[in-house]
Amino acid sequence: MFSRIAKRSFSSTAAANYKVTVLGAAGGIGQPLSLLLKLNHRVTDLSLYDIRGAPGVAADISHIPTNSTVNGYTPEDAEGLKKALTGTDVVLIPAGVPRKPGMTRDDLFNINAGIVRDLATAVADHAPNAAVCVISNPVNSTVPIVKEVFKQKGVYNKNKLFGVTTLDVLRASRFLSQVAGTDPTTEKVNVVGGHSGYTIVPLLSGTKHKSTLTNEQRDALTHRIQFGGDEVVQAKNGAGSATLSMAQAGARFAGSVLKGLDGEKDVIEPSFVDSPLFAEEGIEFFASEVTLGPNGIEKIHGLGELSNFEEELIKTAKVDLKKSIVKGQAFITKA
Ligand code: NAI
Repeated sequence: MFSRIAKRSFSSTAAANYKVTVLGAAGGIGQPLSLLLKLNHRVTDLSLYDIRGAPGVAADISHIPTNSTVNGYTPEDAEGLKKALTGTDVVLIPAGVPRKPGMTRDDLFNINAGIVRDLATAVADHAPNAAVCVISNPVNSTVPIVKEVFKQKGVYNKNKLFGVTTLDVLRASRFLSQVAGTDPTTEKVNVVGGHSGYTIVPLLSGTKHKSTLTNEQRDALTHRIQFGGDEVVQAKNGAGSATLSMAQAGARFAGSVLKGLDGEKDVIEPSFVDSPLFAEEGIEFFASEVTLGPNGIEKIHGLGELSNFEEELIKTAKVDLKKSIVKGQAFITKA
C-alpha cells in the first residue's frame, strides 16, 4: 500500500516539471507574483525578466526552499530576454505602467502597447508554443496586440493566449460575500466581457444569491466590481494600482493553466480569449469561462442564462470592447 502511494506521488511529481517566465518581474505586481509562483510545486524553473532589478528579485526568491531554480535577467545581458523565454511553458506579462488617480486603463495604451508589442515579438521568436497570460493594461487592447504580432510571425495559437481577468473574479467573490454575509472562499461568480469599467460584467444571477439580492444591492455590487480597481488607485494616491491582489489573481490563473497542462480535469477559469461567442458581430475577443487542458483552452463556455439586467450590461460592454479590440489590432496592422 505504502509503496503504491509513494510510487503514484513520485510519478505525479515527476510529471509536474514546468518553466514559467515573468516579464516585468521587478514591478509592483511582478515581485509578489514571482514569490507566489516560487511556492507553486508545478513550477520547477522560474525565469524573471525586467528592464531593471530582476536579478535581485530572483536572488531573493531563490532562497525559499521549494523545488525550483530561479534566474533573473535584464537587457544588460544581450541574450537575457532570449534566455528567460527559451523552453518556457507559461509566460506572464505584467510589464508596463500602472494607473494614477483619474486615469482609465485606456490612458495607458500609448506606453504599454509598445512594451507589449516588443515583448510579444520576443515570445514569438523564443517561446512560440508557450501559453501567454497578459496582465498589462489595457487588457482589452493588449491581448489583440499579442495576437496580431503572433499572426505576423506565423505562430499564433488561439488556444494559448489569455487576458488575465481573474482579479475581477476575486473582487466579485469578496464583495458579494460582504453583502451576503458569507464566507468569501465559497463564493463563485462568473465575470465575463472584458477587463475595464463597463466591459466587466459579473453574472450575479448565476450565484446562489440570485433571489435574495435586492435590485439596489445588485446594482451597487455590479458597479463596485466594475470599478473596484479605482478604490485601490485612489487609496494608493499616485503610487500605482492593485499589485498584491493582482499577484494573487495572476498566480491563481497561472496555477490553473499549469493544472491544465499537467492533465488535471475540469479546470475552469474565466479569461479574455479569442472567442467565437460574438465574433459574428466583429468582437474577436470576449471573456468567459474556459476549460483549460494539456493544449491550453479546451473549451470556451457560453454565457448561460442571463437576466435582462445582464443582457443590457453585455450590450453596453460590447460597444466599448469592440473599440478597444480594434484599437489594439490597428496598432500592429496599421503600423
Ligand atoms: P509597475 O510599474 O510597478 O511595474 C511594471 C514593471 O514593468 C516595472 O518593473 C518595469 O521596469 C517593467 N517594465 C517596463 N517595461 C518593460 C519591458 N519592456 N520589459 C520588461 N519589463 C518592463 O506596475 P504594476 O503595478 O506592476 O502594473 C503592471 C501592469 O499591470 C500595468 O499595466 C497595470 O495597469 C496592469 N494591471 C493589470 C491588472 C489586471 O487585472 N489585468 C490589475 C492591475 C494592474
